Amino acid sequence: MKFPKDFEWGTATSAYQIEGAWKEDGKGISVWDKLSHQKGNIRNGDNGDISCDHYNRFKEDVQIMKEMGIKTYRFSVSWSRIFPKGGGKPNQKGLNFYRKLIETLLDANIKPVIALYHWDLPQALQDKGGWANRDTVKSFEKYAECMFKEFGELVPMWITHNEPNCPFGIYAGAIQNTKEAIQAVHNLLLSHGKVVRLYKQIGLKGKIGITLNLNPVYSASNSQKDKIAAKKQDQFKNTWFLNSILKGAYPTELLEFFKKKYGVPHIRKNDLKIINTKMDFLGVNYYNRDVVKADEKNNDLGVKQIKTKNAKYTDMGLEIYPQGLYDLLIRLKKDYGNIPLYITENGSAFNDKLTKKGEIHDKKRIDFLQKHLKKVHKAIKAGVNLKGYSMWSLMDNFEWTFGYSQRFGLIYIDFQTLKRTWKDSAYFYKKVIKNNSI
Ligand code: BGC
Repeated sequence: MKFPKDFEWGTATSAYQIEGAWKEDGKGISVWDKLSHQKGNIRNGDNGDISCDHYNRFKEDVQIMKEMGIKTYRFSVSWSRIFPKGGGKPNQKGLNFYRKLIETLLDANIKPVIALYHWDLPQALQDKGGWANRDTVKSFEKYAECMFKEFGELVPMWITHNEPNCPFGIYAGAIQNTKEAIQAVHNLLLSHGKVVRLYKQIGLKGKIGITLNLNPVYSASNSQKDKIAAKKQDQFKNTWFLNSILKGAYPTELLEFFKKKYGVPHIRKNDLKIINTKMDFLGVNYYNRDVVKADEKNNDLGVKQIKTKNAKYTDMGLEIYPQGLYDLLIRLKKDYGNIPLYITENGSAFNDKLTKKGEIHDKKRIDFLQKHLKKVHKAIKAGVNLKGYSMWSLMDNFEWTFGYSQRFGLIYIDFQTLKRTWKDSAYFYKKVIKNNSI
């Protein structure tokens, strides 16, 4: 199965998950520094203080990618390295780090893709209300402007946000309650639109978009009740984001529900127009699907996720469902025009073990990859405007509240010695890229 000639094979990481160096060179504290240092938040008391020490070992990591044949590398910038207190004057040493990283990537013929925000808000901004405070949108614009000025000519592809639904769920970070989370999502989306406008106003020639974490939703049965539950879940997980960004409107029922129950979000006249600013591509993170049934008692939405018979799961407990990726891509094509798409994340956590010979035979990850890539190929054949596929992740890293207990990498990290070892899946991926086929 051959892929299109210019298909972009990539891999992805995020700043807090790999960089370490949490206090080096003037970096400020982010919400994740604070959270991970508070007892009880992270499995095994782990934190990102050192992590993969990518900050000091980025050259080795770029070299690994070069050897693997990686064409694009998506990473995020740590906002608090650039603006330790969220705003003010940029920290030159922080900028220097990203400049070196970008130049090393370009020298290796790897296209840098920057995500401006992957959840590590400067704590100083969180102390003023974080994303629930509309002023954070302004701070984000200033930060983005600085990044565009510094690196706009070098970096051909930008992502405003990774998963603007992040104020919900285990990755909630510093967000305390649902009301705050809903307002935070609105402000995140607004900041996305504003920054897309800014990028275009500056006249930069690259591409800008957003990455959404999308979960295709299936009803557990054919009953009317369950189907309604599936629709609600779909609004909450998917169309809240897709419809606002690509159609300029929130799903009416969901919005009414939020307003009635929580009195938010506060929306100003032009907000949705701004959120709907035309962007160049949509990034899709796909991990799993939701199968749901109606259950009034379960949560505010009255929806419950269920496990399906014979389903297979990764070690992190996510169902392995490649068909969901296909269904999702087809739906995006059908409902949202044929906007260029990139799979910006797809991957699996397994409990990899080093053999005595120092190898990692991660058969299950290869199987996961193979099955998903088949669906990707099928979707392209069906006319989906898919430009690239990026695997999560380049290397094992700090998996948020799971700490280092979940390994998603192509490269195995020994967190004691920080030695990098290629897993079998890395060799497999290298072959896929080289042949441009599976
Ligand atoms: C996030 C990553 C995370 C991955 C695996 C994605 O939703 O963007 O930061 O590591 O899921 O859980």
